[in-house]
Amino acid sequence: DSHQVRIQSLERTTNCPADQSILEACLRDDIWLPHSCTQGTCGSCKMKVLDGEVAHNDSSEYTLTTEERAAGIALGCQATPRSPLVLEPVEQFDPDDGVPRHQLRDHVGTVVALDDIARDIRLLVVELDEPMEFNPGQYAEILVPGSDVARQYSMANPPSETSRLEFHIRRAPGGVATDGWMFRSLGLGDRIELKGPLGDFGMPVVQEEPAILIGGGTGLAPLKSIVRHALTHDLAPELHLYHGGRTEQDLYDVEFFRDLEREHDRFTYRPCLSEQDWDGATGMVTDVVLQDFPSCRGLSAYLCGPPAMIEAGVKALKRRRMAPRRIHREEFLDAS
Ligand code: FAD
Ligand code: FES
Repeated sequence: DSHQVRIQSLERTTNCPADQSILEACLRDDIWLPHSCTQGTCGSCKMKVLDGEVAHNDSSEYTLTTEERAAGIALGCQATPRSPLVLEPVEQFDPDDGVPRHQLRDHVGTVVALDDIARDIRLLVVELDEPMEFNPGQYAEILVPGSDVARQYSMANPPSETSRLEFHIRRAPGGVATDGWMFRSLGLGDRIELKGPLGDFGMPVVQEEPAILIGGGTGLAPLKSIVRHALTHDLAPELHLYHGGRTEQDLYDVEFFRDLEREHDRFTYRPCLSEQDWDGATGMVTDVVLQDFPSCRGLSAYLCGPPAMIEAGVKALKRRRMAPRRIHREEFLDAS
């Protein structure tokens, strides 16, 4: 059972199975639409239903209010079709902005590395059977075997490596995917199912101004992909990477980034510790950025990590006069 779904301004039509989200059906048919979290929390996939009827399914009142529903708005990542539909994304976007868009596909791969790299953080490397094109900053949804649970993890490798995906996984105590599987029974040689790429975090085609990148914990993953890609392709005049942890046990890839710093004049790396005195930067990562930049006017930023860090970072950058449209963020929201 499926229904025809038409995106008015793009003049594109696809078939959406009755049990698949409208967003997923479009992305699978190479119709790119604005979205970020794909789990009903960010609201960036809102669509106006111009004709037809949708089921809102698990859309929460928090992300989609009763008034919005009454006005015919739906979350593309949650809603499924009940009839043929004509839709229009709420968020304005330019399909010709030059950012490459990649079709969402299912993938299967083999675990070729699984290492403890920091406290409660594992490096997972998956060799895919078929390559996956993606943009630096995007993520994949990994399926927990024997369940219908899928969780999002950002690619940490640059997009030039399409068949070998690197992920940084933080253990969430009691978490289904991490504590229950990736830190328990997952092993080298295991087969993994995932789908991707997803998300819209990343640099625009032209990044003319210096960029500050702030990662908390495994929020470093997409920033590593962005930094490696941007340095190889001379995309930004300056890149300043900040990585926050509590103690040295929370840091990883330190030597990798120190080497990169030595190789590239335009790149700086500042690991910051909030609960340990050492010879590096001390304090909350966002406070260190505040100290280092008396003004952020004309700069842009890329933030990734837990919601509290993102919130503090956005506040700090606005206080330093960074334009809100230049603040890009990816929140690692979980079920808690
Ligand atoms: P879950 O089962 O989802 O549980 C999470 C936590 O909530 C656990 O501590 C659990 O005990 C608790 N919990 C569960 N249910 C409840 C409840 N009902 N009430 C209270 N507490 C509850 N993470 C990374 O480490 N690396 C990444 O690169 C990464 N990229 C991401 C990209 C995106 C776009 C998003 C949205 C998230 C990303 N995440 C990333 C987070 C990741 O997707 C998972 O949310 C995280 O790994 C936890 O999954 P889990 O199944 O182990 O835990
Ligand atoms: Fe749908 Fe975030 S709410 S992509």
